[in-house]
Amino acid sequence: MKTRANFKGHAIHQMLIPFPIGLMIGAFAFDVLGYIFEIPALWHTGYYTSFAGALMGLMAGLPGFIDYTFSVPPNSTGFTRATKHMIFQITTIILFAIAFFSRGGVGDKPGMVVLLLELAGTVTVTIGGWMGGTLVDRNFIGPDHRYAQSGKWKEVTLNGKKGEMVEAAKTDELKVNQMKLLHINGERIVLARTEEGYLAFHDRCTHRGGPLSDGVLICSTVQCLWHGSHFDIKTGKVKSGPAKEDIKTFPVVEEDGRVMLKIN
Ligand code: FES
Repeated sequence: MKTRANFKGHAIHQMLIPFPIGLMIGAFAFDVLGYIFEIPALWHTGYYTSFAGALMGLMAGLPGFIDYTFSVPPNSTGFTRATKHMIFQITTIILFAIAFFSRGGVGDKPGMVVLLLELAGTVTVTIGGWMGGTLVDRNFIGPDHRYAQSGKWKEVTLNGKKGEMVEAAKTDELKVNQMKLLHINGERIVLARTEEGYLAFHDRCTHRGGPLSDGVLICSTVQCLWHGSHFDIKTGKVKSGPAKEDIKTFPVVEEDGRVMLKIN
């Protein structure tokens, strides 16, 4: 799913995150080797890399928090994973910050407490980084894939009361088999254009909360990318598991060049 924190379609969090991981693990390695072999140049390097690692961790965390707030689908296993990922990485930054401020100046040899704090930070950044990798590789937080006919990701926030019709799109806005994510009153609804016209349904896959707007649409069937469930978007019925529960659908009409969705 394309994130809001992107540069020309590339997720900024994924671009930045190698820096703090490399710097922090590097700082630990330099300090340990300097400590063992009594080489001041190594712990000098560890001093600067640990500071740079914590700083880059904060910088990479900002777009990560934007992804967490706006892109990770709520009420899903991906959201739980993203929450744990964030806790691990905040813990990492705190551990490296404490280690940095307790080690004295650049010329001071790091003590055992500093090394243990950096070791703990190296463990948490590795676990948190692994979870972040899963969020990208399996939950697709960040990839900006295309729909049929090279259709691009679309997302909009709309307001309306229950029972009201709201304009969800212009009739020529989407290509056939392209989808658009609508945020309406805190609910995530997908507008999809099929060969037979427009349809709308809940974004949440009933298996583990995967975003169906980020799935694949063909012949009025949407496939969730997380574990492959298929849903008939005309009826909301499950066509293929592991999902067992149907998805909710919403009435849509086309009038005067607009696609109108009823909020119910
Ligand atoms: S979340 Fe598992 S198939 Fe959709």
